[in-house]
Amino acid sequence: MTNNDLSQRGNFGSKFGVIAAAAGSAVGLGNIWRFPYVAGENGGGAFLIIYLAFILGIGVPVMLSELLIGRRGQLNAFGSFKKLSKGKWYLVGLMGIVAAFLILAFYTTIAGWTLEYLMQSFINGFEGKSSQELKNSFETFQSSTFRPVLWQLIFMAMTAGIIMAGVQKGIEKYAKILMPLLVALIVIMCIRSVTLPGAKEGLAFLFNPDFSKITWSVVFDALGQAAFSLSIGMGALITYGSYIKKDNNLTVTAFQVSIADTMIAILAGVMIFPAVFAFHIDPTAGFGLVFIVLPNIFEQMTGGYIFSIIFFILLAVAALTSTISVLEVVVAYFVEELNLKRKKATILAASSISFIGIFCTLSFGSLSEFKILGLTIFGLFDEVSANYLLPIGAFLIVIFLGWVLGKDIIKDEISNQGTLKTRFLGLYMFIIKFIAPIAIALVFLYSIGLLKF
Ligand code: TRP
Repeated sequence: MTNNDLSQRGNFGSKFGVIAAAAGSAVGLGNIWRFPYVAGENGGGAFLIIYLAFILGIGVPVMLSELLIGRRGQLNAFGSFKKLSKGKWYLVGLMGIVAAFLILAFYTTIAGWTLEYLMQSFINGFEGKSSQELKNSFETFQSSTFRPVLWQLIFMAMTAGIIMAGVQKGIEKYAKILMPLLVALIVIMCIRSVTLPGAKEGLAFLFNPDFSKITWSVVFDALGQAAFSLSIGMGALITYGSYIKKDNNLTVTAFQVSIADTMIAILAGVMIFPAVFAFHIDPTAGFGLVFIVLPNIFEQMTGGYIFSIIFFILLAVAALTSTISVLEVVVAYFVEELNLKRKKATILAASSISFIGIFCTLSFGSLSEFKILGLTIFGLFDEVSANYLLPIGAFLIVIFLGWVLGKDIIKDEISNQGTLKTRFLGLYMFIIKFIAPIAIALVFLYSIGLLKF
């Protein structure tokens, strides 16, 4: 029996499988290179407190909302909305499918780079290079044509291979292997990092609360980071929710996934900053941190050869379990709405996304002068999805749950048809009706510059 038969939709087989797959989606490049830096720069421990408050107060309820829509709808993001409501709500699902296209197109660019750097680690390619040379190598690689595109296509093929194998034999099976591997690797890296001489300063950068750095913009960054990191706002978790069995406690699942995501983000900081400070390097943001600063550290560190391999495997694994969840959004839609077989749907989705993805990759090289609204193609896709489609998606999802779907259905899903207690239902309804939509709207208006404090 294949998964494209609608009466026999795919299912996650076990509770651990659900957690692994959903945490796999959440834990991604966003946790490993973005979170540590944003936290360190923006007040360390003070930022962490705000971040945790957003994860618990808004992230968990929104995640629960997505899982709930999916499990109730038993269909892809578009189909679930269509089934559960009259009117035009299916457009929210459709927007999620579009967001999935854009996110996957630029995410696989970076994911491809991690494979190049994994290969460089294996062949000892950082050996003997000065920091300037490492910077030059990265820039040369990034702006070339053949290699980054090849790695991007390889990464997409890996993602597609897992998706093609199905929900249980693909997504769940690999998540159950890759997520424990990821945890083990990050723990090894953390131990190495905190035992370096001078590691304390790095931990201080990450954890010492500096409330003077907390401004409105930092507060908004914290919410944006929390939302992106939890993979909410585009229906990835609606799609996964549709594969969760009726006896799974969705509230507990949402908590567990959010806690796992946050712990990995914090561990990533513990892995990176002690090493950065131990080698007296200025912490930088984003790509520079992962592809220039860290190779520089590995080059100087005892055992750097092994640790660089571990680190880039870790990064590739984190990216892979995220790209899987994004591709599944599109594939589930193709299978269920366009009646394609899973294999065909995967090939169609992966190749069309790769086609536009290549332009993202080339926008660091031969297409770097090609700008739309002042942004490269990569920048545009990143900006449109992260700053527009995801917040608008998250906003509409909570509005839908809070004001459209009806409390009876919500209670039925949260209590598993009355078998579980619903102690938090009142609080949850209050958050999704008022707190979450207002908070998301404020962040959105602030980030597009319509609101200033
Ligand atoms: N959460 C992932 C990260 O931290 C990225 C991601 C995967 C994502 N799927 C998503 C973000 C869906 C938003 C929506 O890297």
